[in-house]
Amino acid sequence: MTTSYRIALIPGDGIGTEVLPPACAVLDAVGKRHGLTFAYDSFDWSCQRYLDQGAMMPADGLDRIRNHDAILLGAVGWPGVPDHVSLWGLLIPIRRQFRQYVNLRPIKVLEGVPSPVAKATSDVSFVVVRENVEGEYSEIGGRLNRGFPEEMAVQEAVFTRAGTERILHYAFETAKGRTGRLVSATKSNGIVHTMPFWDEIAKEVGDRYPEVSWRQEHIDALAAKVILDPGRFDVIVGSNLFGDILSDLAAAVAGSIGIAPAANLNPEREFPSMFEPVHGSAPDIAGQGVANPIGAIWSASMMLDHLGHPEAGAEVLDAFATVLATTDARTPDLGGTASTKEFTELVLGNIASR
Ligand code: NAI
Ligand code: MG
Repeated sequence: MTTSYRIALIPGDGIGTEVLPPACAVLDAVGKRHGLTFAYDSFDWSCQRYLDQGAMMPADGLDRIRNHDAILLGAVGWPGVPDHVSLWGLLIPIRRQFRQYVNLRPIKVLEGVPSPVAKATSDVSFVVVRENVEGEYSEIGGRLNRGFPEEMAVQEAVFTRAGTERILHYAFETAKGRTGRLVSATKSNGIVHTMPFWDEIAKEVGDRYPEVSWRQEHIDALAAKVILDPGRFDVIVGSNLFGDILSDLAAAVAGSIGIAPAANLNPEREFPSMFEPVHGSAPDIAGQGVANPIGAIWSASMMLDHLGHPEAGAEVLDAFATVLATTDARTPDLGGTASTKEFTELVLGNIASR
């Protein structure tokens, strides 16, 4: 029996357009072995579109992708277009309107990819669960007295009970399905309203998961520990800002921003979820055909997990991990000379040989 999926592709800008074709090729290859087919609809929503037509996406953009099974995004952002335009004109509307309130980022130190952190050996494997739709990244606030000495800016962090409960619930469920260890990032010593609220709800939710052993740690000390002893983590949950910073930090521990994947999940499946590499459009190497496709391929593997095919997802992970562990082939960001295409061919060859 074949199961078919309709995937919305948003390659975006720069290397975003170079890493999505490898991800689709890998999906097609692994799909063949597991009775899955993928139909892709590609959308040109990007900074280029913004420069040509004045908007990152059309006014009815979200309606055009609402009924797809998932969204695969490359990266958006380009010099000359302010980053807040690309973010608030495309990524944030998708995340918020499609209630993708979980941002999930797995961190693994892969064999053959040296970490800048001496203690990060290949047993380092954890996930960062980041709240993705509220918290510190809010539109509430404003500026007053522009141009005067008393000029001011206020931005309110918004933590709702519903939003905080559901992300913590998701994180505890994730920990339950892994090794049962969780750390909740906080800063309730300095941020005296929202963070104690977060901690209270963490305790309430945690009490419902006796099988998960958890504790809270202040974000500053926690950041240091991610560097000093990354092997001790399993699941880390944090607010939008804390999760954002921690997950980039953790991606650096794994060796390269080019390999890090991310999922923006709507766990209730009322809307499509979105899968994207953590990296941006990399204008410095765009157009050279040397972008590392692993971040995008790994994101596609997370999409397979979400669509209910974890065995196919695991095969994709194993395919690129095996190429890294058993050959010298690497893109330049990992110290090699392989092109995007050459590295992708090896991953496809590995899948075909199974
Ligand atoms: P970036 O991730 O694009 O690049 C940072 C450095 O990492 C560059 O030296 C780049 O060459 C390298 N790099 C990134 N991905 C790579 C890959 N797959 N293979 C090899 N090398 C890779 O971050 P940067 O330079 O801060 O941002 C560039 C643009 O991308 C900006 O406009 C920014 O707003 C946007 N951006 C978009 C994101 C998204 O679409 N989710 C996320 C981060 C940045
Ligand atoms: Mg970030």
